[in-house]
Amino acid sequence: MKSIVYLSEAKVEFSEDDLSDLVTLASSKNRLCGITGYLCFSRGRFIQYLEGSSNAVNEMMESIRRDPRHELIYETEIPEIRHRVFDTWWMRHITKDELNAFQLEHCIEQNLLYIKSNFFFKDKCREYIRENIRTISSIYRAQKKGFL
Ligand SMILES: Cc1cc2nc3c(=O)[nH]c(=O)nc-3n(C[C@H](O)[C@H](O)[C@H](O)COP(=O)(O)O)c2cc1C
Repeated sequence: MKSIVYLSEAKVEFSEDDLSDLVTLASSKNRLCGITGYLCFSRGRFIQYLEGSSNAVNEMMESIRRDPRHELIYETEIPEIRHRVFDTWWMRHITKDELNAFQLEHCIEQNLLYIKSNFFFKDKCREYIRENIRTISSIYRAQKKGFL
């Protein structure tokens, strides 16, 4: 399992239609090679998260890096992700508004209720909760430093 996240800058105009074409094509190709993740486009920049087998992610990143429609600013591998985070998101397009509306507290609540009612996947739920709490704490620290 390999997970990569990168930030890139668009080198051409991307309309809503262009984005939706890109994501449609990407998700059908990703489904074939077993890559999941999401793509977020905002203010001329992309953030994409990809996960899958090492070979599949390396090959995909090679063609993404070569794509002249954008230029990579920074890419990094996320360590210690042993299982997929996104099971069936072959390449989900997430808008900035969606991300803002995404309530971490709500996710924690859902996971707690899931653990309460279900015997299975308790560890996975605890992992999600831990990640959400980490995210909340980093948002809090960033706010305190005036980054947000
Ligand atoms: C920001 C961005 C993200 C992309 N993400 C993917 C992706 O997840 N999967 C994919 O198949 N192509 C993606 N593409 C398109 C690839 O870069 C490439 O154009 C496509 O895979 C066809 O490559 P090929 O001509 O080497 O076959 C992305 C392109 C851009 C600009």
